[in-house]
Amino acid sequence: MKEHRRQAETEAVRGGMDLSKKNGPLSTPIYQTSTFEITDMEEQVRATSTDHFYTRYGNPTHTVAENAIAELEGADAALLFASGMSAITTTVLALTKAGDHIVAQRDIYGGATKFFTQWLPKFGMEVTLVDTTDYEQHARAMRPTTKILHLESPTNPTLRVVDLKRVAALAKEHGVATLIDSTFSTPINCRPAEFGIDLVMHSGTKYFGGHADLICGIVAGRKDLIDTIHSTRTTLGCNMDPHAAWLLLRGIKTLAVRVQRQNENALRVAQFLKSHPKVRSVSYPFLEGHPQRALAMQQMHGGGGVLSFEVEGTGQDACRFAEALQLFTLAPSLGGVESLVTIPVITSHSMISAEERAKIGVTDQMVRLSIGIENVQDLIADLESGLAVVKGQRQVEALGSRR
Ligand SMILES: Cc1ncc(COP(=O)(O)O)c(C=O)c1O
Repeated sequence: MKEHRRQAETEAVRGGMDLSKKNGPLSTPIYQTSTFEITDMEEQVRATSTDHFYTRYGNPTHTVAENAIAELEGADAALLFASGMSAITTTVLALTKAGDHIVAQRDIYGGATKFFTQWLPKFGMEVTLVDTTDYEQHARAMRPTTKILHLESPTNPTLRVVDLKRVAALAKEHGVATLIDSTFSTPINCRPAEFGIDLVMHSGTKYFGGHADLICGIVAGRKDLIDTIHSTRTTLGCNMDPHAAWLLLRGIKTLAVRVQRQNENALRVAQFLKSHPKVRSVSYPFLEGHPQRALAMQQMHGGGGVLSFEVEGTGQDACRFAEALQLFTLAPSLGGVESLVTIPVITSHSMISAEERAKIGVTDQMVRLSIGIENVQDLIADLESGLAVVKGQRQVEALGSRR
């Protein structure tokens, strides 16, 4: 009989657990411990490379979550980190050394851009930023010393979509490892490993956790690379706390239903905004008119829960609009059950220069919405009344004193 392959909804609820085990707790226990007792020296030697030695190295609660994530991503293995940023920094530091070169997309999360452009050069690494969807530029940037091609799709907050097959093939041709920040996609909408990407990273703080109550990072991918990254994680000391790992596991169980609802809500909100006279532009991968819509529909099951748009007005109008909303909470972050609103030039992209922001199209008028699982009519009604405060005409006034 042909073996049945479980779907993502099932993996999210049942993944990482030993389903044949009987008489154990249904909920994974929290191993809230820093260290593990051993009986003799021989066992000590055996335990060192396991999740029963010292929690900076690993922990059984983490192992269940890591196995569940690896199954969801269709990857060999996965690792947890104390934050999305520590997943990115540890992975890059694990795979490079002084003299190496990295190619990275220009429009990625601002914290990652800061690490690539302001920190890596201090350690003797060179970084070339390339326009996200200009693959000729990616190819031209490759050097004999290039070790990593760093990607993000869809991008934060511009929602550009990367052609995963194409970049994976290009990187292979040059013997370069591909890393993707797939936070906005989640494995429910896209599994980059299926397109040949080597390492998939997430800010697990967002959709995986799903309830805005934990900070977490994730890397999933090829076993040989994951082993190297594990050793670096141990040295840098950025493993996750066991209690937060348990919260993460609970979040993962509802990942599929949350993301499917967020996909539906976000598309409806994007369609509403597109038709509104006080909205200049809307970016959402599955929205009619998005430049990579066909590609997004090919490689993603849904457009995700984040969208960005520009108000027809000034940066001050964008701020006034965000403050006027009642249901959307004014807060950074994304991916939780509650809908959030933020102004990228003040939050996710405040740490990069205005010049770099201009290159990627992050304007003062841009608003980013993270759509939750509330009733979509309620969300649209809130946006409709919030837009009443927008002046509705083009002005060149800078955000000025608001920043
Ligand atoms: C796309 C993306 N990647 C990485 C990060 C960093 O994650 P964390 O805040 O968990 O360190 C963020 C945070 O907003 C993000 O949006």
